[in-house]
Amino acid sequence: MALSATRCLSLKLEKACILCCVSLLDKLLVVGSTGLVGSKIASLAHGYEFETYNTHNSRPSPFPNSTKLDITDRDATMTLLAKIRPYAIINVAALTNVDYCETHKEEAERVNVGGATSLADAARQNNSRFVHVSTDSVFDGTYGHYTEDDMPNPINHYSKTKLDSETVVAQLLSYAIARPSVVYGWHARVGRTPSGSTKAMNFAMFVLDRLGKSEPVRVVRDQYSSPTFADNLAHSLLRLARLTENGIFHTAGRSCLSRYEFALLLAKIFGYPPDLVQPVSTGEFDQAAQRPKNCCLRVEKAEKALKMHFLTAQEGLIEMKKQARSKPNDR
Ligand SMILES: NC(=O)c1ccc[n+]([C@@H]2O[C@H](COP(=O)([O-])OP(=O)(O)OC[C@H]3O[C@@H](n4cnc5c(N)ncnc54)[C@H](OP(=O)(O)O)[C@@H]3O)[C@@H](O)[C@H]2O)c1
Repeated sequence: MALSATRCLSLKLEKACILCCVSLLDKLLVVGSTGLVGSKIASLAHGYEFETYNTHNSRPSPFPNSTKLDITDRDATMTLLAKIRPYAIINVAALTNVDYCETHKEEAERVNVGGATSLADAARQNNSRFVHVSTDSVFDGTYGHYTEDDMPNPINHYSKTKLDSETVVAQLLSYAIARPSVVYGWHARVGRTPSGSTKAMNFAMFVLDRLGKSEPVRVVRDQYSSPTFADNLAHSLLRLARLTENGIFHTAGRSCLSRYEFALLLAKIFGYPPDLVQPVSTGEFDQAAQRPKNCCLRVEKAEKALKMHFLTAQEGLIEMKKQARSKPNDR
């Protein structure tokens, strides 16, 4: 393994380490820095004493030290990882548009399973810790409030690829699998990828966009999740990169809300008329992929292991509103 600064210092070999380490900081590679979660990790990583490297794919990265990498290119992946030899890798690269994955199954498998497999192999080869982001929707949504010990049973192709990637990652010597739920937060890079394989906006930004234009927004009342504030999630992933424990961790918000309830809370906290939010049932939308009804997650295990608090939806949205006030142009 590339000599880690933490280990060097704990061995009290500071002088020797300065000679043998390129940098005193551990190297972190964020794969997918142009995405919602990746951009938050890349912004926050310095607070965890990492020397951060990033990758981007179809969109340019706003972050320094970023290399273009398509994770379906196995040779390019192995070469980049051998060059950086990171202490830890956080993989947030994926095809995330659930309906797109349903209609482009092979492509979804190539990126979400094949890409994760190459990264996992590269992690093994370089003795890197691998933090891989999966999803709450590995569960079928029959009863909700899932713990890490509950049995996954994905009901759409996107979720199946994510579960398959978990299986690959769980064979590593040092790994953590994080499962968030509907992720929200400000994201400057809202442009669609050329193929439409990622969503243009996360759910909260989409709802705020409509409410801001005084347009009604139809939201499903029969799908429950644990809305996860992207910044809070990024902190948990950085902590997982520093943790030595292996396993699955539910890294989601503390609330269990329907999309409709979440949209109403958005309207309330951002000061928009609640009657613009209109409840509908899932059956009223014509979607390619089936959606689980209730994928709320329990987060006690991760809170204990990471010594942190996962925000309720109310707390997360208040934080999001504060960010809008302090950095109105940075969205
Ligand atoms: N957002 C949610 O509600 C949610 C919920 C549960 C789990 N998750 C999981 O959380 C993780 C992060 O989600 P997110 O919302 O941040 O995703 P996102 O905003 O859609 O970003 C996806 C990232 O993946 C990269 N990417 C896509 N295809 C790639 C390829 N072939 N090679 C290399 N990079 C590729 C994109 O790069 P370019 O933009 O440069 O092409 C982008 O950086 C994903 O694993 C997702 O499955 C998300």
